[in-house]
Amino acid sequence: MVQVRPITENDIGGFHAALDSVARESSFLRSDAAPPIDAVASFVRQNIESQNPQLVAISEQDGVVGWCDIVRASGRHESHVGELGMGVVAEWRGRGIGKQLLVDTIAAADACNVLRIELSVHSDNHKAIALYRRFGFVDEGRKLRARMRNSGAVDIFLMARLRPEQFWPGNT
Ligand SMILES: CC(C)(COP(=O)(O)OP(=O)(O)OC[C@H]1O[C@@H](n2cnc3c(N)ncnc32)[C@H](O)[C@@H]1OP(=O)(O)O)[C@@H](O)C(=O)NCCC(=O)NCCS
Repeated sequence: MVQVRPITENDIGGFHAALDSVARESSFLRSDAAPPIDAVASFVRQNIESQNPQLVAISEQDGVVGWCDIVRASGRHESHVGELGMGVVAEWRGRGIGKQLLVDTIAAADACNVLRIELSVHSDNHKAIALYRRFGFVDEGRKLRARMRNSGAVDIFLMARLRPEQFWPGNT
């Protein structure tokens, strides 16, 4: 049984371990390891304090097995924008956890008036790209050879999901 719920301070260690295990696959994320635990703890505390949606998937036996966060920009002119990051620990993929994390995290972002959710994804991460498209993310651009992995350079897709027109200011 896996439960998807907002992160708490008690999940920091589990989130760090899950992030580290996905980063160490060296295929999907920005780096090959999680940042130090102190940096991850500040990230989580900042999200809780700022009410940025950050949800975790918790398994009874393995603890944190996935996460999804949408971090809002801080400036007044960009506070309607949030950047999405997510991952599911390898052994737990393909069971609907990624989908559930996206459903609940996007609902939380909608509830706090994030109008634009943006993300970047490696161009060969077909599974994630298909999942994002299914949730209404559209392609916005491509950064050529923007990440260097052991196997060589890879492009990055830029994607975004915009709320429907009626939610934007000036459209009441
Ligand atoms: C992308 C990721 C979060 C998806 O999580 P997940 O729990 O495996 O996803 P789900 O089980 O909810 O599956 C979602 C959809 O992906 C697709 N999918 C699942 N397994 C797949 C596979 N092996 N190949 C291609 N598509 C697949 C299916 O369309 C599925 O929807 P469906 O079950 O209705 O058909 C997960 O694969 C992951 O953590 N990848 C590594 C980290 C990563 O890429 N993070 C995003 C960086 S931008």
